[in-house]
Amino acid sequence: MAFTLESFMLIFQLTFHVILLLSLDLFAPIPVSATILGNETDKLALIEFKSKISDDPFGVLATWNESFPFCQWVGVACGLKHQRVVSLLLYSQKLIGTISPHIGNLSFPQSFNLGDNSFHGKIPPELGRLIRLRQLNLSSNLLQGEIPPNLSRCSKLMDLTINNNQLKGQVPFEIGSLSELEVISIHRNNLT
Ligand SMILES: *[C@@H]1O[C@H](CO)[C@@H](O)[C@H](O)[C@H]1NC(C)=O
Ligand SMILES: *[C@@H]1O[C@H](CO)[C@@H](O)[C@H](O)[C@H]1NC(C)=O
Ligand SMILES: *[C@@H]1O[C@H](CO)[C@@H](O)[C@H](O)[C@H]1NC(C)=O
Ligand SMILES: *[C@@H]1O[C@H](CO)[C@@H](O)[C@H](O)[C@H]1NC(C)=O
Ligand SMILES: *[C@@H]1O[C@H](CO)[C@@H](O)[C@H](O)[C@H]1NC(C)=O
Repeated sequence: MAFTLESFMLIFQLTFHVILLLSLDLFAPIPVSATILGNETDKLALIEFKSKISDDPFGVLATWNESFPFCQWVGVACGLKHQRVVSLLLYSQKLIGTISPHIGNLSFPQSFNLGDNSFHGKIPPELGRLIRLRQLNLSSNLLQGEIPPNLSRCSKLMDLTINNNQLKGQVPFEIGSLSELEVISIHRNNLT
């Protein structure tokens, strides 16, 4: 097989491209623009969430302001690598308010615990957009309306804890498609 200069150059260029692609992949796992947009989306969603809370007697949301990066806000935990919200843990804080539908704009949350507060209004169907969600705990609040069938779109859900609220209607039959579900706690509601 004759090794011409052309074929050598071609192999050289291909190899160079592969190395370039590999190194780009190593050093920039997510395009920078996506990261900036991404964490701005998370921040907006959290600010909207806060805006629907009318009473915060322990002042847990006092740190939720521009002086701190949102990953340091009390109750918020972010992934180490991409600075995106992975959990929102605000249980037993005597919070009063509704759950903002904007919460559905978070892209990577795995765990929500808003249990043992005074959230009223409906469970926003937008929660169904949180396809990575594993644990949802909204127990011991004053939530009304029906269980949104869209929750069945959280296909990784393992723990659905919504007991001790004022939910009514039937358990949506779509919930049966949640194949990872291990805990479903719905007692002490007005479900039929
Ligand atoms: C942010 O919150 C902290 C802690 O509550 C407070 O000391 C600070 O003044 C606040 N900053 C702004 C810009 O509101
Ligand atoms: C948002 O992303 C930008 C760019 O990656 C980064 O500089 C900034 O610290 C991030 N902000 C927060 C609050 O995570
Ligand atoms: C976030 O969610 C709200 C309500 O679900 C929606 O109106 C809004 O367009 C969404 N997107 C952003 C980027 O805030
Ligand atoms: C849900 O949250 C409540 C209030 O914090 C807590 O008592 C309960 O153990 C939690 N349940 C699950 C299954 O996480
Ligand atoms: C609920 O799920 C349906 C698809 O099953 C989707 O079209 C709709 O936009 C979802 N609603 C919300 C509020 O996310």
